[in-house]
Amino acid sequence: MNSNLQEKLGLQCPIVQAPMAGGPTTPRLVASVAAAGALGSFGLAYSTPEQIHSQCRDFQNECADRRLNPDCGWNANFFVFPEVVEPDLERLDRAKKQLESLGRRVAIDAQAMQHETQLPDLREQITAALAYQPSVVSLHLGIPPDEIIALIHAAGCYVALSATSLDEGLRVQEAGADFIVAQGIEAGGHRGIFDPDASDDKLGVADLVAQLVTRCDLPVIASGGIMNGADIAKLRIAGADAVQMGSAFLTVDECGSCDTYRAAIDKIGDRDTQLTCGFSGRPARGIRNLFIDATVSNEAVLKFPIQNSLTASMRKAAAGMDDFELMSLWAGANYRQARYCSAAQLLRELQKEMLVALEKA
Ligand SMILES: Cc1cc2nc3c(=O)[nH]c(=O)nc-3n(C[C@H](O)[C@H](O)[C@H](O)COP(=O)(O)O)c2cc1C
Repeated sequence: MNSNLQEKLGLQCPIVQAPMAGGPTTPRLVASVAAAGALGSFGLAYSTPEQIHSQCRDFQNECADRRLNPDCGWNANFFVFPEVVEPDLERLDRAKKQLESLGRRVAIDAQAMQHETQLPDLREQITAALAYQPSVVSLHLGIPPDEIIALIHAAGCYVALSATSLDEGLRVQEAGADFIVAQGIEAGGHRGIFDPDASDDKLGVADLVAQLVTRCDLPVIASGGIMNGADIAKLRIAGADAVQMGSAFLTVDECGSCDTYRAAIDKIGDRDTQLTCGFSGRPARGIRNLFIDATVSNEAVLKFPIQNSLTASMRKAAAGMDDFELMSLWAGANYRQARYCSAAQLLRELQKEMLVALEKA
């Protein structure tokens, strides 16, 4: 049961390894996923053009070492950042005061925390990635300007945009995208809702897929809480062309998630995940910890992405000191099912489980 999307992208299985900005999606991971016949993704949202060139060159070398066809498909992912609004001094001071005692745990002085207002330029980022011919460019958190979609199409690549509701899915279609990434409320990492201040339907992935396949014509990639082959089969039967999985790849050998992150997934697996704005200023799902609890009121949290830059040094110091209580442990609602193996083994197991479930259905 090959999907339309699988054929378009030349994939042997309907699985996308989710883009995960900030380190997890290494060239070795993306190449391993491609070698196993799935679509690997780079999370390049925070990367400068130079960093993108370096990642892509490493990926090409990785493909050459494995004698993988360098034209094998892969996905380059970016954020549609909102316009940055400089916080007023009183708000900034309030945010820093809130971080003061938490920062001390990892020897970071909140007053020294920097808030960055300069963002990477999306056109420059995408131009850098297009030089290495990804098969797909996906964007998260909104709809990019028309000229960005035209730029990607002119390079012969497909465009995938995230949607968390039917309304967003219809807007993705209208914008001229080729695929919709349907992100359910279960998903780990940043919630793709276009306007985080608007009311949120909070649809689970199964309900969202059902609505999108009924009303939209584009192939749908289901995402959020998918951890095994039975989950994949269920969503394929519901009409999704493929699935995008993040948390399932966080613990594979080739993933760049740091040891403390992996240990946290293993050690504090009794904790639930929660949506929080505390780390970045935008809702994102992670494993509940001291930081999430301390910032739960959002009263002293700055807007995205300023809050993200403000907490960056604290998060980095916490990772360096193995203090997972202050790290953003992004993970989906079903992260406890994570497996510790290679990407190839995970993908083999997922496909086997999916086929068994499809046969039974
Ligand atoms: C650690 C982590 C980082 C993520 N970073 C990104 C990102 O950079 N871009 C993006 O489009 N989605 C990102 N996501 C969301 C994924 O694309 C996907 O929606 C999510 O992983 C699905 O839920 P799951 O983790 O339960 O599989 C991230 C998810 C995680 C867990």
